Amino acid sequence: MEKPGFKIGSGYDVHRLVPGRKLIIGGVNISFDRGLMGHSDADVLIHAVCDAILGAVGLGDIGDHFPDTDPGYKGISSMVLLEECGALMEKQGYGIVNMDCIVFAQAPKISPHKKKIKENIAGVLNIDSNLVNVKATTTEKLGFIGKEHGICAQCTILVKTIPQKI
Ligand code: CDP
Ligand code: ZN
Repeated sequence: MEKPGFKIGSGYDVHRLVPGRKLIIGGVNISFDRGLMGHSDADVLIHAVCDAILGAVGLGDIGDHFPDTDPGYKGISSMVLLEECGALMEKQGYGIVNMDCIVFAQAPKISPHKKKIKENIAGVLNIDSNLVNVKATTTEKLGFIGKEHGICAQCTILVKTIPQKI
């Protein structure tokens, strides 16, 4: 079967907000009185991006590649996982066309950090930061996000075949 020229992927992740942890979103350490709980640095946005990349190239999800039962991944920067997902995608012969991400958080404000988040993601994946769009929304104080029990993130990505290096 011929390899499709373009493929899409989607990623979604949720982490609980707890006291005593740093809040890291898109590789930015955001000043806040709570942080996200998790085995790694719990960067919910980067986990959604990783899952979108893996999904686009048909490689399952982040837990398949970096199990949270593995002590080697404890406290690890999710940017390292993102870099590995990018490499796995390239190995499959694909590169990123663009991605669109959403952070769902009642607080804190994400907009002041969007530029840096875009640059962080683009930097690790070696792409132009214009190919990375980051949006944020509250849930109008509704549900677990609105009550500030957790933060979630979503990412949609388009990839295309890249010429193979010989
Ligand atoms: O309905 P809409 O998403 O426009 O309203 P909102 O949830 O109150 O968010 C208003 C704007 O604030 C969004 O468009 C985001 O740009 C920004 N925002 C943010 O920077 N950080 C958040 N945690 C939530 C929203
Ligand atoms: Zn996660």
